[in-house]
Amino acid sequence: MAFSEEFIEELRQRCDIVDVVSSYVALTKRSGANLFGLCPFHGEKTPSFAVNGEKQIYHCFGCGKGGSVIGFIMEIENLDYPDAVRFLARRAGMEVPEDAPDPRRNRRERMLALNREAARYFHAQLMGPAGGPGQAYVQKRGISKKTVIRFGLGLAPDSWQNLTDAMTAKGFTRQELVDAGLCRVGKSGGLYDYFRNRLMFPVIDVRGSVIGFSGRILGDGEPKYLNSPDTLVYSKSRSLFALNLAKKSKSGYILLAEGNIDVVSLHQAGFDSAVASLGTSLTADQARLISNYTQKVVIAYDADAAGQKAAQRAIGILQPLDLKIHVVKIPGAKDPDEFVQANGPDKFRQLIERSGNQMEYRLEETAAQFDLTADDGRLNYLRAAARLIASLPGSVEREIYGMRAAEKANVSKDAFLLEVEKVRRQNAAAARKKREREAAAPLRAAQPAERSLRYTDVPSAVAEEGVLNLLCRFPEQFRDLPLTKEDFTSPALGGLYEAVAARARQGEHVTMASLEQQFSPEETALLAGILQRDEITAAAADKAMADYINKIRAQRDKTTAGDDLRGYAEKLKQTKGYGS
Ligand code: UTP
Ligand code: MN
Repeated sequence: MAFSEEFIEELRQRCDIVDVVSSYVALTKRSGANLFGLCPFHGEKTPSFAVNGEKQIYHCFGCGKGGSVIGFIMEIENLDYPDAVRFLARRAGMEVPEDAPDPRRNRRERMLALNREAARYFHAQLMGPAGGPGQAYVQKRGISKKTVIRFGLGLAPDSWQNLTDAMTAKGFTRQELVDAGLCRVGKSGGLYDYFRNRLMFPVIDVRGSVIGFSGRILGDGEPKYLNSPDTLVYSKSRSLFALNLAKKSKSGYILLAEGNIDVVSLHQAGFDSAVASLGTSLTADQARLISNYTQKVVIAYDADAAGQKAAQRAIGILQPLDLKIHVVKIPGAKDPDEFVQANGPDKFRQLIERSGNQMEYRLEETAAQFDLTADDGRLNYLRAAARLIASLPGSVEREIYGMRAAEKANVSKDAFLLEVEKVRRQNAAAARKKREREAAAPLRAAQPAERSLRYTDVPSAVAEEGVLNLLCRFPEQFRDLPLTKEDFTSPALGGLYEAVAARARQGEHVTMASLEQQFSPEETALLAGILQRDEITAAAADKAMADYINKIRAQRDKTTAGDDLRGYAEKLKQTKGYGS
């Protein structure tokens, strides 16, 4: 283990979770030991992000994220466990014991070194005597030598083993090449290069490390792009291409494009704040990353229907972050690259300057769907527009856009604003209902937010969660439970149980902060959700624990006896209200 439990415990005591979270999130409401604020990890309008000062954990009832103060820093600063510990230690003025070697950290560093070497290798191929096909393609796309160098573009040669051989010669192992996603194992057991005959775009994080690659085929062919898989150092959903350059821009906005080529071409034309997501549509994590660097986003997606649909989606993801969002429409070209190459930077700058904000854009897109000369077309437009405008938090904004939408459909502003208020009342009622439903069933196991952790046997999982809850809260009461990890139907809960039970046997209290060192963020989030519950008191705990254990056994007997588990679960659902 990299850090001793004592060190983690001291760090945790010096970094009160309420203090730390408060510097990121306004905690505005109190309910019992919980302080609530708007979740920084997903978009929401009513607070479901809870920080519990007593238990020193956070948990979002909306998106399911949760953990200790260290887990919070991992998530919000996008750091791994050791770096989050260092971050907090610095904040608390504590010295970090660095002597213990951390194999995970070592593997990360090796992988980053390998990626850097591979990027150098690809770049040297493009610039060297074998670079012909790559140079021809770059020229055809109007990418200058200066731009090639700025982005560190490269060429993966049209061969099966070039990179494999070059990296092996530098001392990287087979396993390291495969783990980094650069090589694959062939049928005969030999390695082959994953990227071949492609223009290579290194993905560089904001700290300047090469974390992955994206490779475009030279010319036509399928697939057009190959991307590195997610690795120890690369998470596609949390990275943005060219953010390392865009973060230094003085433009005052981030320009969000779809394609790597668009980004490269825009930078070349002087738009140095262009970024793109890689092989995925925009994610909430990427939106948060953007909001760390800017207050304004200009979306410049492809002009086709798919691009416009993606833009609408991106607006939905960016909107909760309180960013100013504008959307550029590209006339007479398929994408920003084609537009700047054909018309020059000044024309594109005008497009940005004249771009509408997201509400104008969406009202326009909505209007285009209906025939506003016909009565029912106008009516349907107004309904759709009212739904959009109802989502605006400010009454002045609603008034302004309401006026415009009303004008467009030629009805009175007051009639239209009445419709908006109606939608707002409906939305509020639906949100209240949802909260009430959730509050009414506190002990019902919702499926974990993380898909890979889903429960296969919900009734048993409810009891398994109960065991964990009581064991964590009252470890001295349950030092020797007659359960092993194998009794758990959920592998995630079983793994957590094993770790917590081992500590309980030694009379230790378990802290989330130390478990995070061992478990994935998804697993600790699951535990944070379980720990939030404290309906069962110490006095009632023995009886409750016995019930949980019986339940787990009964479920197992049902399954092994060959009973129709589905039927049983269904019956339970009907009689007891269990189920997902
Ligand atoms: P585009 O096809 O628009 O790419 O896909 P582009 O970079 O603009 O290329 P040109 O201009 O057509 O040459 C947009 C992005 O979608 C991802 C890549 O990240 C790409 O940059 N993508 C696309 C893939 O991951 N795989 C694919 O097969 C295609
Ligand atoms: Mn494109």
